[in-house]
Amino acid sequence: MTIHFDENKRQFHLFNESISYVMELYRGTYLLQTYFGERIQAFTQSLPYPLKDRSSFSPNPKDWPDRGFSLDSALQEIPGYDTGDYRESICAFTFCDGTKAVGFSYLEHTIFQGKKALDGLPATYVEDDEEAETLEITMIDAKRQLKAVLSYTIFAKRSVITKSIRYQNMGNQVLYINKALSSCLDLPDANFDLLQLPGAWANEKQLKRDRLSMGVHVLDSKRGASSVMQQPFMALMRPEANEHSGEVYGFHFVYSGNFKMATEFSFFEQTRVLIGINDHNFSWKLGANEIFQTPEVVCVYSNKGLNSLSSTFHKLYRERLARGFHKYQERPILINNWESTYFDFTEEKLLAFTQKAQKLGVELFVLDDGWFEGRNSDTTSLGDWIVDKKKLPGGLKQLAKKIQAEGLKFGLWFEPEMISENSQLFEQHPDWHLHVTDYPSSIGRNQYVLDFSRSEVREEIYRQVTQILDNVPIDYIKWDMNRNMTEVASVLRETDQQMETSHRYILGLYEFLEKLTNRYPTILFENCSGGGGRFDPGMVYYMPQSWVSDNTDAVERLKIQYGNSLIFPSVMTCAHLSAVPNHQVGRITPLDTRAAVAMSANFGLMIDLEKESSVDIDKIAEYLQWYKKNRQLLQFGDFYRLLSPFESNHASWVFVNEEKSKAILFFFEILANANKPFIKVKLKGLQESAVYQIQEQTYTGDELMKFGLYLNEELFGDFQSKIIEINRIDSF
Ligand code: GLA
Repeated sequence: MTIHFDENKRQFHLFNESISYVMELYRGTYLLQTYFGERIQAFTQSLPYPLKDRSSFSPNPKDWPDRGFSLDSALQEIPGYDTGDYRESICAFTFCDGTKAVGFSYLEHTIFQGKKALDGLPATYVEDDEEAETLEITMIDAKRQLKAVLSYTIFAKRSVITKSIRYQNMGNQVLYINKALSSCLDLPDANFDLLQLPGAWANEKQLKRDRLSMGVHVLDSKRGASSVMQQPFMALMRPEANEHSGEVYGFHFVYSGNFKMATEFSFFEQTRVLIGINDHNFSWKLGANEIFQTPEVVCVYSNKGLNSLSSTFHKLYRERLARGFHKYQERPILINNWESTYFDFTEEKLLAFTQKAQKLGVELFVLDDGWFEGRNSDTTSLGDWIVDKKKLPGGLKQLAKKIQAEGLKFGLWFEPEMISENSQLFEQHPDWHLHVTDYPSSIGRNQYVLDFSRSEVREEIYRQVTQILDNVPIDYIKWDMNRNMTEVASVLRETDQQMETSHRYILGLYEFLEKLTNRYPTILFENCSGGGGRFDPGMVYYMPQSWVSDNTDAVERLKIQYGNSLIFPSVMTCAHLSAVPNHQVGRITPLDTRAAVAMSANFGLMIDLEKESSVDIDKIAEYLQWYKKNRQLLQFGDFYRLLSPFESNHASWVFVNEEKSKAILFFFEILANANKPFIKVKLKGLQESAVYQIQEQTYTGDELMKFGLYLNEELFGDFQSKIIEINRIDSF
C-alpha cells in the first residue's frame, strides 16, 4: 500500500492490493478526480477534459482562455462556488464583502504513515501507523485567504478510502460558512443504480434500489439526528451488479446529525457524489485563523457485489471504528423489561422476573424506562435522574446488588438529551431546551430536546448521570433519544451564530460521550433512538452496539435486519425475541422463527416470562444455550446474505467462521403455499475443497456453493424458519 505522487504528471495515486484512487493537478492548479475503482498499475491517459465543442455556456477560468477547459464539466475534488461550475457545490461561504465567489488552487501536500484523529469528531482510526497512509492536499483561494486541507486515508488491507476537509480562515476578517460538505467524488459516467436505506419509526432501513436518472437526487436528514427516515449511507451500483458480483461504491458518513448525500447526474453523463453536514439551517462563523473540521466519509469500493462491500464495512467498523473494552468481547444475552411491564413495575416484580431470567441462562437484566421519580407515562420527568422510591424503595443500588447476587449483570435505561415540561429541571431552567424565544415550541413524544450545544446544560446532566453511575454498580447503559429537533435555537447564542446550533449540539453530544465512556470504560453502552433513529457510524465510535428498531416482529425484522446488514455487523445489531401477538403489528409468529431472527444478530429477550407457557420457557432456555455455544460465530463471523426478503417470500443468510470450519445457515419462509416451488440456496464463504457435514449427510464445499442446498421441503405454515449447522469434517 502506498500513496505515490508523480512529479511529472502531477498525479496522486493512492493504492493497495484491491483499489486505486487517482487524482491529478491539472495545469498544476485544479485538483481533478481521475479514477476510483479496482486497483490499476498506473494511469497514463490524458483524460477528455477539453470539451471545446460543448463549452459555449460553460465558462473558462480567466488564466486559460483557450476554451479548452471548463470547471463546469471537470471531474473535481473541491469544486468552488459561483466560479464556473454550475453543479451542486461542496461548499459555500459569505465573505466580508457580502459576495460568495470562491475557487481553490493547489498549494502543497504532505503524505504520512497512519491516520490523524479528527478533533472532537468520531472517525475510523489505526492502531499501528503501518495500517494506513494519509495524504493531505492544501488547496487555497488566495484572494479570499481561505484554505481547504483535503485529507485522504487509504487502509493497507481494506478497500476503503476515508475523506474529510479542514477549512481555515487565513485572513483577518470574519467569514461565514454556509455549506461545508466533507467529500466530492466526480465519477466519469452515470451508469448506476442508487441504493439507499430509507425508513420510518419501527420500519427502518427498507432497502430501495432505483436507476440513477438525470438531475440532482438528495438523501438527507434535517431532523437533528441521522434519523429513522434515512441512513447516512448510499451505494452506487452498476445495473448488473448484485449481492455477489459487479461494481459497487458505498459511502457512509461518520456523523449523527443533519446530513446530505447528493448525487448529480449531469448532462455530460458524469456523476457527482457529495456528502457532508446538511446545509439546511446551517451556517458557521469562522473568525481569523479559525478552523472548521468536517466529519469523515467512508468510501468503499467492491467489484464483487454488495456482500463484499458489506464485509468491508463490517470489518472496518468492528475493528477500527468501535473502541474500548467491549470491542472484541462476546456480548451478554440480555432481557429487557420494556414490553413486559412498560412503566408499571415494582422491585418485587422485577426480582421475580430476574430470578426466572437467570434460570433460563440470561446474563444481563436491563431496567428500561420508568425507574425515575414520577415517570409513570411518557409525559413527565425527563431531566430528573433521581430514582423513584415508590417503585424501588431500596433504590437502584439495592436492586442492582440483588440482581447481581443472582448472577446477572445489571443495566439501566437513560434518555439524557431530553427534558419534560413536567420536571424539576424544567422548573429551574425553562430555557434549557432548544427553542425560539417567544415562539411556540413543538413537542415530540411529550418532550423537548435539551440544548446540548450549551456546556452548562451538558454539565448538569453529566453530574446527574455520573452520580448514579458512581454509586450504583451498573454494567450496561441503554442511551435513548426519542424525538427530533424543532425550533433549533439556543438562547444565549449570538444572532449570527444561531445556525451553528444543530452542529454544536452534535459536537456537545460527542464531547459528553467521550468523557462518559472514558470514565466508565467497562460499562457496555447500547445506542438507541426509538429503535434505529440514530444508529449511524458516529454513534458506533462511542457505543459498540445499537437497538435497530422498536419493531420486534420477526417477519418485519427480516427486512430491517437485512437492510441493516448492508453496513453494520451482527455484533452491533441488537435483536430481541419478543411476545406474540407482537406489540407493534399484532402478528403471531412461531417461537422458532422469532428466535431464529433474533439469534441472527446480537441476541436478547423482551418477553414477559410469566406469560410464556412452560414448554416455551424450556425451548427458550435451549435457544440460549445454543446461542452461547455459537455466539462467537454469530456475533463476529463473516456474514453473507443469500436470499432477500425484499425480493421474495424467503430470506436467508449464513455466518461462516474465519477458518471456514463452521457455518450456520438461516432460512425463512414467510407465507405458506401449497405445492410450492423448490427453493435451493447456494452457500457462500465455505472452503471449496472441504467436506462439510449437515446432520447425517456430507457435502463438498464447492457443491454447497455451486449447486446449493434444498431448504423448504418439509416446512408447513406461515412464518417458518430453519437453522442449519454446517461443520467441516475434512479437506480433500
Ligand atoms: C424508546 C425505545 C424503547 C424503549 C422506550 C422507553 O421507544 O426505543 O426500546 O426504551 O423508548 O420509553
